[in-house]
Amino acid sequence: MAPVYDDFTAHHDYEGWLADLVVALERHGLSGKRLLDVGCGTGKSFVPMLPRGWEVTACDISPAMLELAREKAGEAVRLEVADMLDLPRFGEFDLVWALDDAINYLLSPEELGRALTGMRANLGPGGLLLFDVNELLAYRTFFAERVVVERDSRRLVWTGLAPPEVAPGSICESRLEVMPDGNDAGAGEVSTVIHRQRHFTEAEVLAAIEAAGLECLDVYGIYTDGILKQPLDVSTHTKAIYIARRCRDQRP
Ligand SMILES: C[S@@+](CC[C@H](N)C(=O)[O-])C[C@H]1O[C@@H](n2cnc3c(N)ncnc32)[C@H](O)[C@@H]1O
Repeated sequence: MAPVYDDFTAHHDYEGWLADLVVALERHGLSGKRLLDVGCGTGKSFVPMLPRGWEVTACDISPAMLELAREKAGEAVRLEVADMLDLPRFGEFDLVWALDDAINYLLSPEELGRALTGMRANLGPGGLLLFDVNELLAYRTFFAERVVVERDSRRLVWTGLAPPEVAPGSICESRLEVMPDGNDAGAGEVSTVIHRQRHFTEAEVLAAIEAAGLECLDVYGIYTDGILKQPLDVSTHTKAIYIARRCRDQRP
């Protein structure tokens, strides 16, 4: 996925989206500028934070993704290979976030709980955690559709394999094929990656937040325009966004 990720997501407005997320976080007292970006991919979810003075540590399970993040960020950012299921304690952060589906690659509520526990351990005093999860609408649309993106000399074909009526808590797959332009239906060299994601219900997410020693502060819904809305409406929103902090009665 790494070599085509930026092309495939070229239409995502990270500048605007991250700015809106920071505004939402400031309503909950965000202070300080130390960010841990978990599942950072090629760096799209932290690069816009650099000119705003943030000190960034970022990690991903994929070394290939991190190589591309390094090309964008140079030495300004600490980049580490890490599985969020066994997240090391990289330090104390004012903000820990995991953006754009990273959480949905976890395949059970137990895995979600482990990841959130690791993120919590990286929160400094007063630190905030923010993450998004795909809603059923995303699995019933994007994960059930065929999308073709043509860039440079490549054609990217996304084939959602989810049934139209995905049940809550389902695991859904999509196939992404990368082929030379004009080369459809498998002729020539085609590389294929399967995306496997789990849908998490709001109840599962809230239970995992609590079990990880965190307190949920806010929940938003967004559609593909990225504009934060409340309340979360799973019939019209493709993603939910959760903001949490460490429970006040718990030690670090
Ligand atoms: C859809 S990309 C999002 C990347 C980036 N946050 C962004 O907004 O562009 C999801 C990322 O999560 C990473 N990922 C998936 N499972 C992970 C895990 N268990 N631990 C760490 N990263 C993981 C993938 O390698 C991928 O880079």
